Order: sequence, then structure tokens, then C-alpha cells
Amino acid sequence: MHHADQMAYIERMHGMARANARDDGQVSHTSVEEYFDTDRFEREKAVLFRKYPVVVAFSAQLRKPGDFVANNDSGQPILITRGTDGKLRAFLNVCRHRSATVELKSCGSNKRAFVCPYHGWSYDLTGKLLGITDGAWFGEVDRATHGLRSLAVAERCGMVFVVPTALEPGQSADIDMDAFLGPVKADLASWDMQDWEVQSTTPIRPRMNWKLVIDTFLELYHFRYLHGASVAPLFLDNITAYERRERHSRFAVCKPSILEVENQPRETWRLRDHAVVLYNLFPNTVLAYTQDHCGVFTSYPVSPDEALINVSILVDPVERAKKPESYWKTNQDLILAALDEDFTVGASIQANFRSGANRVQTFGKFEKALGWYHQEIADALR
Ligand code: FES
Ligand SMILES: [Fe+2]
Repeated sequence: MHHADQMAYIERMHGMARANARDDGQVSHTSVEEYFDTDRFEREKAVLFRKYPVVVAFSAQLRKPGDFVANNDSGQPILITRGTDGKLRAFLNVCRHRSATVELKSCGSNKRAFVCPYHGWSYDLTGKLLGITDGAWFGEVDRATHGLRSLAVAERCGMVFVVPTALEPGQSADIDMDAFLGPVKADLASWDMQDWEVQSTTPIRPRMNWKLVIDTFLELYHFRYLHGASVAPLFLDNITAYERRERHSRFAVCKPSILEVENQPRETWRLRDHAVVLYNLFPNTVLAYTQDHCGVFTSYPVSPDEALINVSILVDPVERAKKPESYWKTNQDLILAALDEDFTVGASIQANFRSGANRVQTFGKFEKALGWYHQEIADALR
């Protein structure tokens, strides 16, 4: 994040903390039906998880030629490879003979060819059909049109984004990430995460709609009550500054040390010393930058009432080496403990949606990022 933006956040939150004020905004609402209606759910999958770039891997998993990752989280079977030419490619992990899953492992390295476990058709790292077992019995197969179906893919800031819809021949496999990220592009680039390592990834299956999972990250209002025994003591009570950035948002949540910045020279101020900086990347990813790591939280739809969230912790290898493994384990445990608290109450919310108690969810002025998020989703589905 630009230095000027960091200063502005610090000053804004310092003022709020001193005056015990909250970030202002509009009260907003969203229908409870959007969290369980099956038609709405199918539309979300068809649009948000087929036409938008979603995070399916990290650069750290795909550094070398022959590295691959297979990922089904979006509902599409996706295979990502690093070719001998250094290029990243993505495909549907589906054999062109009779549709078996080609690569069964979730990741690996030194791969030269993918061999289908059903009848042995094989494909290279570029998706090209290499071999057909007993090929003479298939007549003339045009290998150029029987490679693995390509998907659009892009690598940004240590994350691998894929649009999970098969490209037609001649369609570009590039994603215009500059346009997609818009005003958060420069921010993400400035965090310089390209060379970071994946410290851990934990998949969780909460009994919650996938959007309700994202909701839990977008305000600090609940910390005092829900996270009193876990992460609440690390932060000032609900001192958070939000900014809408086109379809995304960014915000900073304030640590007690912000009250001391007035005694320090301005040129030494650094936002991450006094706050966690978060981005809600449309449609399903939250990034949380702390002093020494980035939490990457991706939420995928499983059913209207069930989500899959991957909790990944990315760390700069230089920072990682400075601290013992036990430090990183404690950090991971604290995050997972807080999420367990979130998802326990979240499951009760999901179960209660059908009770008829509420027709809408109400978002207070300092919960405005939830209102923005649900508005952006509604607009994308129009
Ligand atoms: S389905 Fe893959 S070789 Fe037959
Ligand atoms: Fe929480």
C-alpha cells in the first residue's frame, strides 16, 4: 500500500481510537433468502464461480517446470501445470476419451506427462494429447482438438487465479487481471507476495452458505463478544476503517499500539505495525496482511447451506526463518480457534434463516463492508 495511504489510515484510526468513534456509513440490509435459496445458489455458481477469476493455488506450489496442482474446490475439476517453457497453464482435469479424472493427486512435481488411469490416454504439460492406447482402433483422432480443455489462468502476488469455464478454440487463456483488480492492483503488488511460501493450508467445511463465511471477516463488531477468549485482546474494540474499491474492498483493523504513534516520528509509521490490513477480493477471497504473514481465506459453495473454506497462511521465507516453527504453529492455532468460534455461531445463523424470524440481515453503519459486498454480488448476478 502506498505510504500516503498508510499514513491516512493511521491518522483516521488514531482519531477514531482517541475519540472512541466508529467508521460511519449507511445502515443496509440483505435478504435472508439469498443465503439458502436454491435458484440463487445455482446462479451464483454459474456466474461467480464460472465467469470470474478465483484463487485455486499459490505460486509457491508451481515454481518449477513439471509442478502441478489439481483443485476441485470451485466445483470444476482444475489442473494447473508449469510447462518446460516456464508458462503456467490451466485445464479441465477431464480425459477427452470418456471423461475420467486424469490426474488424481492434488499436487506434485517433475511431471512430464499425465496418464489417464482408465485406459491410459496421455497428455503433456501443455495439455496436448500425446498418446492413445491401441490408437489404431479409434480411426483418425485429431490430436490438435483432443487436448485437455484449457482454462484462463493468471498469476498475481503469489496467487494463481483461474476462470473455471472451458475456453473455446481460439479464445485467449489470459485474464485481464489489471482490469479485474482495478484499484487494489497496486496495493497487492506492493505487498510483494510473489516469493512467499505456503506455511499451511487448512480446509474447513462449515455448515454455512459460502457468502456467510465471507461475512464473518468483514467487521470487527463481533470481536468483543465472540472472540473475547481468543483474538479480541489483540485489537481495539471495533476501530476499523473501510474503503470500497470498485467490486472489492480494503480495510484496516486497529491494534492498541496505534495510541502510541503520536509519540513517534511520522516517517517511522508503518500501517502493519498498528493494524491488520484486509482485502475482500470479489467474489470469494479475503486477504489479511499482518506484521509477518498473510492469511488467505477462500470460500467456495458446496450446497446452499454448506461451504468449503481454505485457510492458508503465506509467509515471506526471510520472516519465516527468523522465528521457530512453534511460533507459526501457535499463530495458526489462534486463527483456527477464532474461526471455530465464527463458524459455530455461523452454523446457528444458517439454521435460523429458515425460521421466519428475519426477512433481512441488518448491517450497521460500521458493518458497511457487508452491505457493499452483497450489493456487488447482486449486481454481478443481474
Ligand atoms: S477415460 Fe481416459 S483413457 Fe479412457
Ligand atoms: Fe470472527
